[in-house]
Amino acid sequence: MSAGFDNPEVSDNPEVSDTPDDASDPAGAVRSPNIWGSPQTYETHNLALDRAGVIDRALLRISGRPDWRGATVVELGCGTGFHLPRLAETARTVIGVEPHRPLAALAQQRVDGMPSGPDGLGAPVTVVVAGAQATGLFPASVDAAIARWAYFFGPGCEPGLAELGRIVRPGGSAFVVDNDATRSTFGSWFSAAWPDYDAAAVERFWTRQGWARESLDVSWEFDSRADFEAVLSWEFPPSMCQRIFTREPTRTSVDYAVTLRWRRY
Ligand SMILES: C[S@@+](CC[C@H](N)C(=O)[O-])C[C@H]1O[C@@H](n2cnc3c(N)ncnc32)[C@H](O)[C@@H]1O
Repeated sequence: MSAGFDNPEVSDNPEVSDTPDDASDPAGAVRSPNIWGSPQTYETHNLALDRAGVIDRALLRISGRPDWRGATVVELGCGTGFHLPRLAETARTVIGVEPHRPLAALAQQRVDGMPSGPDGLGAPVTVVVAGAQATGLFPASVDAAIARWAYFFGPGCEPGLAELGRIVRPGGSAFVVDNDATRSTFGSWFSAAWPDYDAAAVERFWTRQGWARESLDVSWEFDSRADFEAVLSWEFPPSMCQRIFTREPTRTSVDYAVTLRWRRY
């Protein structure tokens, strides 16, 4: 993916390309049926989730910063780059890492033409086609690495954790944002829809890795019932959606528990 400018934080990466090509994603890309299948629905999901900015504020609070000024911030598994412009409002440099080429291309489109650089109007943003296991970033080059609902789902993400240890500089932090299936109305729907999901095993994994955790409460607030139904229909199996839609015919929002995991390097 073309950077659009020279970014000293990004080394020559053999996976970087200008050509979106579904069949040639870097090794280790984990299929995300929702965003890969319907980036537009994922946009609706993102627009509805945490409008109050609870997650963003927690990341800054834990980092001990009022904003990202002076920082190199990386989002691992950035998808269509929804969160990159917000980070670029104050960061020194923003890098989106995304292994699925069509999504990386959408992320690049999103940031193309954004004000960036020396006039101080916004951070330069680079999109790199790579997985969290091998980002191509320079060692100790990152102040904050953030993964939202991407790759770091528990057992199996050890290669990504090793890569974080390589790229985050001493004093920097890494954050993993994911569902908390043990709390909230959304959590109860999630656990009912995916009974094999073992939240306790995931928790044990992160404890063994020595990461800290914080429970956050956000909400998912849709502009319309149509948006609510569209996103739920792509999140859950049809039988689960039918139950929710029948029981709650006018609902357009839901309380949503999130786990924020983090570690300082
Ligand atoms: C559920 S989406 C979340 C996207 C984005 N973080 C957001 O919140 O809008 C998960 C993303 O992780 C990406 N992904 C898949 N395998 C990955 C890997 N090995 N390393 C990093 N990201 C990966 C997917 O392609 C997808 O874009």
